[in-house]
Amino acid sequence: MKGIILAGGTGSRLYPLTKMTNKHLLPVYDKPMIYYLIETLINAGIKNIMIVSGRGHAGHFLELLGSGVDFGVHFTYEIQEEAGGIAQALSLAEDFVDGDSVTVILGDNIFQDCIKEEVRNSKDCAKIFLKEVTNAHSFGIAELKNETVIGIEEKTKVPRSNFAVTGLYIYDSDVFDVIKSLKPSGRGELEITDVNNYYINKGMMEYGVLEGFWSDAGTLDRFIKSKYTGTTAHTYYRFTE
Ligand code: G1P
Repeated sequence: MKGIILAGGTGSRLYPLTKMTNKHLLPVYDKPMIYYLIETLINAGIKNIMIVSGRGHAGHFLELLGSGVDFGVHFTYEIQEEAGGIAQALSLAEDFVDGDSVTVILGDNIFQDCIKEEVRNSKDCAKIFLKEVTNAHSFGIAELKNETVIGIEEKTKVPRSNFAVTGLYIYDSDVFDVIKSLKPSGRGELEITDVNNYYINKGMMEYGVLEGFWSDAGTLDRFIKSKYTGTTAHTYYRFTE
């Protein structure tokens, strides 16, 4: 199993903080945001991790994280030259994944749950992780029927459930062929939701529901909340270590 952290984008929703460094390197409580994601992957037993970042401040990742020796893992770096969507960023990891399965995590998503079992049991399928939320219109939302996901709608005004699709996904190696079959969305990007709906339509999508803290820290409001609630996550980590 390979791990991919997608840390692209310009972070414009967090200006001016992101003028000086990449969004995913901003501090959340006592460590850079990306440390939480690295811990999620390491706790899941993943040691071979690619970080895909945009061009701006890309060198900061190398300076902070280096080869991965400090974490006992190996980091590989890739650059997404232009904003082409989450699925386009993922497509850059095809050679790195090299026929393996892959756990993908969006660089501004902070998770408390441990997904070790899910990673161990994932075989020839895709898996998404849902979290019940109160602001469903802000996320991709899963429609469920008889304990099966039957579709995902991206940021709709009338959400069909309160289960947000979080930025954590497990795919088999076919995901790269799926991305090649996609057409750009209305905003000109290759959407991760289209990848997920492809697997759903094939009847190959599983899901889990997260119980612990989850935050998408990509907007100023959520970033500030994460900085605050990050203490909760941090305390949790300390007690469970
Ligand atoms: C992305 C996905 C969305 C998901 C969210 C989770 O949205 O497109 O489906 O619910 O991440 O953080 P973004 O935050 O890039 O707008």
